[in-house]
Formats: sequence, structure tokens, C-alpha cells
Amino acid sequence: MRILVTGGAGYIGSHTCVALLKAGHSVVVVDNLSNSNREVVDAIEKITESEVAFFKMDVTDELAMRNLFSEYTFDGVIHFAGYKAVGESVEKPLMYYHNNLVSTMVLTKLCLEHGVNRFVFSSSATVYGDNKIPYDESLPLLETTNPYGETKAMSERILTDTAKANPNFSVTLLRYFNPIGAHESGLIGENPNGIPNNLMPYITKVAIGELPILNVFGDDYDTIDGTGVRDYIHVVDLADGHVKALEKSQKGTRIYNLGTGKGTSVLELVEAFERINGVKIPKKISPRRSGDIATSYANADKAARDLGWEAKYTVEDMVRDSWRFAEMRLRLR
Ligand code: NAD
Ligand code: WQD
Repeated sequence: MRILVTGGAGYIGSHTCVALLKAGHSVVVVDNLSNSNREVVDAIEKITESEVAFFKMDVTDELAMRNLFSEYTFDGVIHFAGYKAVGESVEKPLMYYHNNLVSTMVLTKLCLEHGVNRFVFSSSATVYGDNKIPYDESLPLLETTNPYGETKAMSERILTDTAKANPNFSVTLLRYFNPIGAHESGLIGENPNGIPNNLMPYITKVAIGELPILNVFGDDYDTIDGTGVRDYIHVVDLADGHVKALEKSQKGTRIYNLGTGKGTSVLELVEAFERINGVKIPKKISPRRSGDIATSYANADKAARDLGWEAKYTVEDMVRDSWRFAEMRLRLR
């Protein structure tokens, strides 16, 4: 199949391009490079020894996207493009609503116009809110705590309603848990600018000496050691989930959690990072971060049952691969 991958130069998109190409599909990447760079596309080509058609384009630019849809015939679309920083979304809600919702609507509209019936969307466990754990897909969604989460919940509704109104359209909503890790080549991975919001990129920046100390946000949660528990998933597993979802697309809307089903606390993740990589991570306990919940992990049974997908990588694999990527970037500087 020829797949349009929006946001394909980003962290999860780039790994998914690799998985698609390895599975024999071809990809066309559209990315405005607002949170990535052109070298990522070269790295995808290097890893896969395949060509990637790349367009520096904004998915909210309907005219440009319309031209692309006239130039290529697509069998499916995976829509990663969007902004994802929770804190920034609280400060700049309009920017988030505009980018994340307009991109989804432009893409959906063009898919319908051109008979592109497979649509896979990057959703997030954040849509569950502070729900009953483990999160399963049948739970009624609780209020999200920030505009970013709201754009995911709203995009899910836009796509679900579109599939209802268009019986040939197939929508797969993938709710990711906490992706970390990197491709084993060390050529692609997560590389945020500035001070990272998320735990693993923060740990790697401390490990390479760019940041002095990790702040552990709260040690008084009702969890195994008082620190927040999350379902960390290797980005390569996550990427494989997209290939399966695309290949198994069915008319209507399907929702799948992509997680491991296992929770790991902040202190457990730090301990695994130190043990596997032989690097010390200085840390201190800091106040809770506003909006955080104690525990989040998936019930991942539905994806196993319907898609034949299961996460294979362990937390040890994840911390090793995150570190390899960070170290390789350090050496390139
Ligand atoms: P990322 O920022 O690395 O990738 C997103 C890519 O989209 C970037 O390359 C960026 O330049 C591009 N982009 C943004 N707006 C665009 C636009 N209007 N037009 C074209 N390109 C645009 O983020 P990621 O971690 O790879 O996340 C991919 C998707 O998965 C996002 O939609 C994100 O919300 C979702 N998601 C991420 C996580 C996570 O923890 N990383 C968890 C759940 C869901
Ligand atoms: C994980 C744990 C923190 C940083 C966010 C988004 C979610 C999804 C994934 C996109 C928590 C703790 C963190 C630090 C810390 N993104 N922590 N010190 O909050 O589960 O999810 O990213 O969809 O929508 O909300 O991930 O990596 O930020 O935090 O102690 O410097 O690490 O409190 O317990 P989170 P995270």
C-alpha cells in the first residue's frame, strides 16, 4: 500500500515509516518540520535502504494538501502531525486547537473526496482522564485536564462521526500510552528542543550532563513507591501497532490501546536506566506536577485479539535504546 504519513519526520512517525517500509509498503511523508528536521527523513532512508517521498508542508494548508492528493493515489493515511506539549497547550490553547483540529479536518475531508478509506489516528491515553485502571477502550471518557487532551478527544469524535456518515470509511483510533526508546540503529529517536516535559527525554538530558538533576514530581501518590506509575511502551512496538492497524482496517471506527499493560514508577524507570546503562542520574523529590495522575496503564487485550499485536520490548530494552540514541547524538556534536 502507499501510505501518507503526516508528521512522519517526528518521533513516532519516523519509527512508523521504518516499520511500514520494512513491511513492504511505500510512504509519502508530509511534515512542516515544526518539531523535527529533514535529517530524520535521510535516517529513515538509511535504515530501510528505501526511498521516502518527503514534502515540507503544513497539513492545515488545504490547498497544498489538495495538490498532493491530486498528485498521488493513497491507500491509507496515518495522521501523526500535531502539537503535543501539555503545558504549552494550556498557555496557547488556540494554537493547539487550530493545528490539531484543522489538520484532522483537512485530511479527513481530502480522504473522503479521494476515496482514501483507511485512516489511522494518533490518539492518547490522556483521553481517559483520571479513570478506572487499567484503562480499557470501553470506558466512558472523563474530562481531559488540558487543551492538548481535548484536541485528541475532539479529533476522535470528528473521525467517529465521519465514519458513521460515510459507510466505506474506516477509522482506527490508536490510544498510545507512554512511548519511549528508539530504533536500535540509534539513528532516530526522541530529540526535543529545550527543556523536556516528559520523563525519559529529561533523564537522558541529565545522563549526558545537559541538565543537572531530575525532579521527581511527587513521592506521595498511592503507588508502589509513591511516585507516578505509567505504561511505558517501546516506540518500535508502537510503530508495529500502526502497521497492523492499517493492514486490518475495517469499515467503521475501531479503538485500540497501544500499551504493554504494565505499570512502572518514576523511581523504577530511573533505577532501570542506571542499572542497564551504568549511568548515575542525580535526582531530587519535588512537588507534584499540576494535572498529573497517580497511575495510568493499559488493558492491551483488544489489540492482541483483533490486530494480533502485542508489545515485545521490556523496560530494560527501552532504557538501553533511549540511551544509545542520546549517546550517539552526543558523539555527533
Ligand atoms: P513529534 O512532535 O515528534 O511529531 C509530530 C510531527 O508533526 C513533528 O515532526 C512536527 O514537525 C509535525 N507537525 C506538527 N504540526 C504539523 C502540521 N500542521 N503540518 C505538518 N506537520 C506538522 O510528536 P510524536 O511524539 O511523534 O507524536 C506524534 C503524534 O502522536 C502526535 O499527534 C501526538 O499528539 C501523538 N501522541 C504522542 C504521545 C507521546 O508521548 N509522544 C503520546 C500520545 C499521543
Ligand atoms: C511520566 C511520569 C511525571 C517528568 C504525557 C502527556 C500524555 C502523553 C504522554 C501525549 C509522571 C513524572 C515527568 C519529570 C517526573 N503525551 N515526571 N519528572 O504525564 O504520563 O503523559 O506524555 O499524548 O498526554 O500528558 O508523561 O513523561 O510527562 O511523565 O517525575 O521531569 O514522570 O510526574 O508521573 P505523562 P511524562
